[in-house]
Amino acid sequence: MRVALAYSGGLDTSVAIRWLQVRYGYDVVTVTVDVGQGDDLKAIEDRARAIGAVKHYTIDAREEFARDYVMPCIRANGLYEGKYPLATALARPLIAGKVVEVARREGTSILAHGCTGKGNDQVRFDVTMRALMPNCTIIAPIRDMNMTRDEELEFARQEGIELAAESKRYSIDQNLWGRAIEGGDLEDAESEPKADAFRWVNVDPALLPDDSAYMSIEFDHGIPVAVDGVKAHPSGSGMVEMIEYANERAGRYGVGIVDHIEDRVVGIKSREVYEAPAALTIIEAHRELEKLVLTSHQLRFKQIVEQQWSILAYSGLWLEPLRLDLDRFIASTQEYVSGKVTLKMYKGSFRVVSRSSPYSLYDEGLATYTKGSTFDQSLARGFVELWGLQSMVANRVRGVAYESGAGMQESMPRRVSMHGQG
Ligand code: ARG
Repeated sequence: MRVALAYSGGLDTSVAIRWLQVRYGYDVVTVTVDVGQGDDLKAIEDRARAIGAVKHYTIDAREEFARDYVMPCIRANGLYEGKYPLATALARPLIAGKVVEVARREGTSILAHGCTGKGNDQVRFDVTMRALMPNCTIIAPIRDMNMTRDEELEFARQEGIELAAESKRYSIDQNLWGRAIEGGDLEDAESEPKADAFRWVNVDPALLPDDSAYMSIEFDHGIPVAVDGVKAHPSGSGMVEMIEYANERAGRYGVGIVDHIEDRVVGIKSREVYEAPAALTIIEAHRELEKLVLTSHQLRFKQIVEQQWSILAYSGLWLEPLRLDLDRFIASTQEYVSGKVTLKMYKGSFRVVSRSSPYSLYDEGLATYTKGSTFDQSLARGFVELWGLQSMVANRVRGVAYESGAGMQESMPRRVSMHGQG
């Protein structure tokens, strides 16, 4: 019997190949999906075969990832808990889908992945695989056997499994949209990440450019179509190169590190460190453009939608119908999100310094304090009176007065403070 295994080439999935073979007696078909992780894919294929895979698929999904996962994230300003641009979370449902496709082609409904039982990735894989292939059997050897990293290393040694010679200091997951660095001394929430944790973002003060730099991003219906001169098409072509360019450019100026405490789906809090120069700059630029072209009502409601969208994407519910409903709402808001935003970067900091759009709602004639104002100030008087009307009535009824040194005082006793005094 065949099993289709999502294979990254790392420790967990390499152990999984041999485990599925020797403990279950399966013929293992490995599937490596390129989402821009920058690995040597030929070496990964060779490793899979050396460990015992009977067949291997390498699938280049970079453009699909950029178009169908990263672009919706940009339109949604997708930042989980306000910080994490969801790189790993977005790639998992795509990878799960490819594994299901391979399983169908290989005539099996047995699927496998190398996730542990402590993280989010198991949730993303299992939920998406079951959504796409309801009758499937999912095997996750590391989780099922409750293996620790040391036990995995011991199993790999016993079985003579060759591992990549990369640094064992950190556990890395990276793709086009970001790089997650975990483990090692990063597990101590009190300790600052050492410089060797970073690959994409320049953190060495001696190497950071002394000058500031600009990066301009053009959007068409909420989709970035050019970063500086590097163009992309909404159909997907050029998006990979454009995002890679933004990662490189912003990273060089020290921009793009996230260090925060994150709530995993399984209830564990974890200290997470990311590099995501393109994601952070493009999302900030997109958000700023939206502020130029959307009404305050649209902006405020969209923020609620964005938060829900990010929670669904993070927690493995990419195929939950609500996510599709939210994406339809978001698509409708993007009709006028076209224009150009320029960011200024300097030694790790960045901010938007310029924005423009043919659909701008910003009217200098209305906003100006100088001569040439088109705004009739006398209209404001009545508006302000009505704006504060309810507050004024409430404070009169409750006898609120200001006393110097004591702040605001109510003469009427508060009902809540009377509770239980009776
Ligand atoms: N905490 C992030 C997430 O859940 C990053 C996870 C990185 N994954 C990994 N297998 N190392 O999306």
